[in-house]
Parts: sequence; C-alpha cells; structure tokens
Amino acid sequence: MRQFEINPRVEMFSTCKEFSESYEIGSEDLIITNEYIFQPMFGSLHLDCEVIYQEKFGSGEPSDDMAEAIYHSMKRTPKRVIAIGGGTVLDIAKLFALKHVSPILDLYDGKLPLEKDKELILVPTTCGTGSEMTNIAILALNSRGTKKGLAAKELFADSAVLIPELLNSLPFHFFATSSIDALIHAIESNLSPKANEYTDLFACRAIEMILRGYMEIREKGNDARVPLLQDFLIASNYAGIAFGNAGCAAVHALSYPLGAAYHVAHGEANYAIFTGVIKNYLEIKNTGKIADLSRLLSHILCCPAEHTFEELDALLGGLIPKKALHEYGMTEDEIETFTDSVLENQQRLLANNFVPLDRDRIRKIYRELY
Ligand SMILES: NC(=O)c1ccc[n+]([C@@H]2O[C@H](COP(=O)([O-])OP(=O)(O)OC[C@H]3O[C@@H](n4cnc5c(N)ncnc54)[C@H](O)[C@@H]3O)[C@@H](O)[C@H]2O)c1
Ligand SMILES: [Fe+2]
Repeated sequence: MRQFEINPRVEMFSTCKEFSESYEIGSEDLIITNEYIFQPMFGSLHLDCEVIYQEKFGSGEPSDDMAEAIYHSMKRTPKRVIAIGGGTVLDIAKLFALKHVSPILDLYDGKLPLEKDKELILVPTTCGTGSEMTNIAILALNSRGTKKGLAAKELFADSAVLIPELLNSLPFHFFATSSIDALIHAIESNLSPKANEYTDLFACRAIEMILRGYMEIREKGNDARVPLLQDFLIASNYAGIAFGNAGCAAVHALSYPLGAAYHVAHGEANYAIFTGVIKNYLEIKNTGKIADLSRLLSHILCCPAEHTFEELDALLGGLIPKKALHEYGMTEDEIETFTDSVLENQQRLLANNFVPLDRDRIRKIYRELY
C-alpha cells in the first residue's frame, strides 16, 4: 500500500536574480504573477518573456471565470509556465500546464482529457497553501456557488522554488491568514485516517514551526515575523507535503461555501470553522490521534492538555479576530444550504475526517458557529 510521495523537486534561492539566472528564464516562458510582487523583485532583471498579471482579471481568490479569461489572454503557447504568487496565482497556473484547459467547467467536471504538456514551476509568495507541493487546483465555480478542487497527478509542478525574500512584502493580514491555513493543513492531515509516520513527520514539524513562530510574534510584536519568514515558508511547504498525502478534511469542506459566497480569504474562512470542527470531533471521540495532537500542542504551548484547544484559539485570535459566521454575511437559511452544498460537493474532503460527520453534525457545527 502506498505510504508517501513527494513530487516536485524543491529548490531554494536567496534572491530572485539567482533564481532567474539558474532557470535561464526567456522567451519560451510564461510568468503568471501580480504586478506589485513581480515589479519590485524582478522588474530590474528585464526578463524576456510574456508576463501576465492575475489581478487584471479580477480581485479575490481564483474562479473559473478568472482562469478562463487569463487563458484566453495568452499571446502564445509557452514551453514553461512559471507562477510567482500566492495560492490564487499558483492554482490558476497549474491548469495552464495542461494541454486541454477550456471550458474550465468541463475540465472540473472530468469531461476534458488530463494531459500535461508544459513544464510547471511554482514559486509561492505566501506561507500558506503549500500548493507548490500538491496536485490540487482549487477554483470557485461561480455558476455553482462553491469552491471545488481538481486533483490529478498532471497538476504536480516540476519544481517548487522557495525564495524567502519574496515574502518580505506580504502584508501582516495575509501572512496571518495564509499561515493559519498552513497550520490547519498540518492539523487536518495529522488527524486524517490516511495519516502515517511519514505524513506525521511533516505535519507535526509544521505545527511546531508555525506555533513557535506565533508565540514569538505574541511576545515581540508583528515585526518579529520578518526573520522567521523562511521558517514559515518551509513550514507551509511541509504542511503541503503532509496534506498532499493524507488530505484535508471537514474544516476545508465547511469553509468552502463561506469563502465562495462571501469572498472570505481562504485561511480566514478556515479559521472561522476550525474550532467548531475540533469541538465536535472531541464530542464524538476524545481519544486516539486527537489526544496525541492535544499532547503535542500542550508541549509546544506549555499549557495543560485539557486546555490546549482553547489556548490555541487564543493564540490565533491574537493574529486575526475571531468572528461568528453571520458577521461575514452568512444568513440563517444558509445553515441548511451550506450543509447541502458540503454533502454534495465535498465528499473528497469529508472522507478524511477524524471521525465521520453526518448531516446533523455538519448542520450543528454551522449553527454553533453562526
Ligand atoms: N492547491 C492547494 O493545494 C491549495 C491549498 C490551500 C489553499 N489553496 C487555495 O489558495 C488560495 C489562497 O491562497 P493564499 O492564502 O496564498 O492567498 P492569495 O494568493 O489569495 O493571496 C492573498 C493576497 O496577498 C497578496 N500577496 C500574495 N503574496 C504577496 C507578497 N509576497 N507581497 C504582497 N502581496 C502578496 C495577493 O496578491 C492577494 O491579494 C485559495 O484560493 C485556496 O483555495 C490551494
Ligand atoms: Fe487550505
């Protein structure tokens, strides 16, 4: 039985110049990025390749319409697709390494053959998604009002390139939401029934690196993150390796309708759901992996095991405020419709729950968080 797989080669460079020279970026390449990330770091290098700025095609997290518009704006078919950005840019770019991309809705419905015919190089500029290590591209499907992940081996990058200096410009809010996303990847994969010694090696180390960083920020202030950005980038990469193998679960599943309907940043939507899912897991079963996780957290956070999840919540609450779901705009009727949407669209994730959550339980979680 397959235990573990790490796919793209991982490379690290101190500067964007070193990366550009090492990869000999040139006319047969396409770079997908954001102008405000690319220009300050790569502008002076005058790279001779097509550059597309994602934000010209819409704001917020990626949708099928956005990806479709970017695809049709390409001037030529590149040999290599290079994505430099957050999960939004990385997830869109993954699709462009495929031979058949459009209509994207058909691609997501499994109606187009999956064939990769371009080299894919992913350079993350947030410390969250770990998307550079996974074979998943998540889009909001606008006509369906939810987010959906397309998972296929053809979506793996050839190289994941870590350049910590790219994170210097990441605003604190996105540092916080993206790293909370990484923490939740690590926790969900640790609790997944597909977890094993190999995935836990990466998941537990990611949890420790992220929480130790948060404790330092709590003690010394937001700027204390700057010397730790390389650690956070590596931790999110580790968490990507862990969930790429063991999977994410209910937190992600329940956050998708919220993120899609009210454009809540992915990490923040996950945070809004996280405590509700953990509380309900514990109500059903408080032994096994969740007790092991609690012991690990109590060791890192230096608190008694029975208070670990409250302590964790307080630590995260110092980074971004915890809000009830109605504060994001969710209506009471949506407790029912979001539950339906999760059951209909997110079975891929629900299969990785620590313990099964049925319709009543999912409704209860939304109600408690509402
Ligand atoms: N494929 C996967 O495995 C996977 C896993 C988790 C999440 N995701 C997806 O990733 C997306 C979220 O990605 P994210 O959390 O990285 O956020 P993001 O890509 O949406 O970026 C958040 C904001 O920060 C800006 N930004 C990013 N890097 C910056 C930098 N270095 N300097 C200045 N601004 C910067 C972006 O332009 C954007 O405005 C969601 O769509 C989510 O579904 C994918
Ligand atoms: Fe995520």
